[in-house]
Amino acid sequence: MPNIVEIKRKIGKFNKTITVPGDKSLSIRWVLFASLANGKSKAQNLLLSEDVLAAIEAIKKLGIKVNIKKKECTIFGKGIDGYKYKKNLTIDAKNSGTLGRLILGLLVNSKAPIKLIGDKSLSKRDFMRISEPLSKFGAKFKLRKNKFLPLKIYGSSKLKPIKYFEKKGSAQCKSSIIFAALRTEGNTKIKAKKSRNHTELLCKYLKLPVIVKNNRNFDEIKINKAKKINTLNYDIPSDISSSAFFIALTALSKDSKLIIKNVNINPSRIGAITILKKMGVKIFFKNKKTYKGEEKADIKILSAKNIKAINCPPKLNSGAIDEFLVIFLVAAKAKGISYFRNLSELNQKESPRLKWAEKILTNLGVKTITTEDSIKIYGNPNLNLNLNKKINIKNYLKDHRVFMTSLIAALAFGGKWRIHDKESINTSFPNFLKIINNLKK
Ligand code: S3P
Repeated sequence: MPNIVEIKRKIGKFNKTITVPGDKSLSIRWVLFASLANGKSKAQNLLLSEDVLAAIEAIKKLGIKVNIKKKECTIFGKGIDGYKYKKNLTIDAKNSGTLGRLILGLLVNSKAPIKLIGDKSLSKRDFMRISEPLSKFGAKFKLRKNKFLPLKIYGSSKLKPIKYFEKKGSAQCKSSIIFAALRTEGNTKIKAKKSRNHTELLCKYLKLPVIVKNNRNFDEIKINKAKKINTLNYDIPSDISSSAFFIALTALSKDSKLIIKNVNINPSRIGAITILKKMGVKIFFKNKKTYKGEEKADIKILSAKNIKAINCPPKLNSGAIDEFLVIFLVAAKAKGISYFRNLSELNQKESPRLKWAEKILTNLGVKTITTEDSIKIYGNPNLNLNLNKKINIKNYLKDHRVFMTSLIAALAFGGKWRIHDKESINTSFPNFLKIINNLKK
């Protein structure tokens, strides 16, 4: 029972200032870069969720010392070639696609084979998208059914640079290739569909031999072998993807206002804000600052009076890829039919998210037409569920974002909800329910 959350009534109006935990993408990247640096790196506000702790366990297995105190994490890097490759090493990426995919880029020259495993959800996700480009560098792979975890990587001492066209808009693929290229003599060239660029910005800040040319739809990235990586002290800004749940909740609630402090607003991550603003939600950035190449700000959100339907331009997809479930909730309350397309990547996440969007919206009594890569949502500005309408959310592969989206739907639209597998939030947002309870007070 305790692993089920029951929500029986809508949230009342609120006017609060909150802080959400550190950004997950930046936290995992910081752990990996710090593990390669020459000496001690410290992070403040590192997200201490299961995905990031799995990254810390992974580098520990590779011989790197880590010290976690409440407010500060210290990593004692041993230099770019400092990993120890013990025999029969297994790394467990648990639920984290980012960890599983990025770390493979750093293992392309491992001196012993390494096994990579993950949980049930990660074991259903595509790893061929990584083994394929990394094989071109010279590493070898054995994957379950040629595509899935568990896999074994056999590093090579004779890596060669590659030319690669990354067409999915996956930052995980792009970053994995950048990591491999930083280990490879010669010039690697990537043409990459737009996706979050934290890895490139960190390379720039660390003065690594990486040159990025931004074109309209694609980026061209040229990478040379890195000789040395400097230590990196980093105060991780808060996660825009975690913030998105509260942005949606505020937009959907009556007479409410919310400020979320110190959030990473990297332009490649704020697709959801652009989309929601187009739908009429009032969102403002305050106290904008640049920090080590990343942008951050406080975000202010007001309840939305009239939500407009949207025909969402696909060029906004990559910047909103983790936020579509909550964007769809806002579309459920819009006047008119919203249309989101070219979203096949959503079914490649921790669960098939387009399918889950359809299930949640159908439970809300909202009509959708869903295909493999698109969804039409027939919005209802008066959406409000009967107090006795029972909704049960379970068997969703413990996808943290399905759990949190369902909870926001319950608080915004009413009904009697039982949402299973509460522990799913631990992968990205362990104190999510605490913040919700604070808004209820
Ligand atoms: C991430 C990239 C995205 C995103 C994931 C985090 C990253 O995945 O969905 O939550 O940190 O690079 P893809 O690269 O598969 O799109």
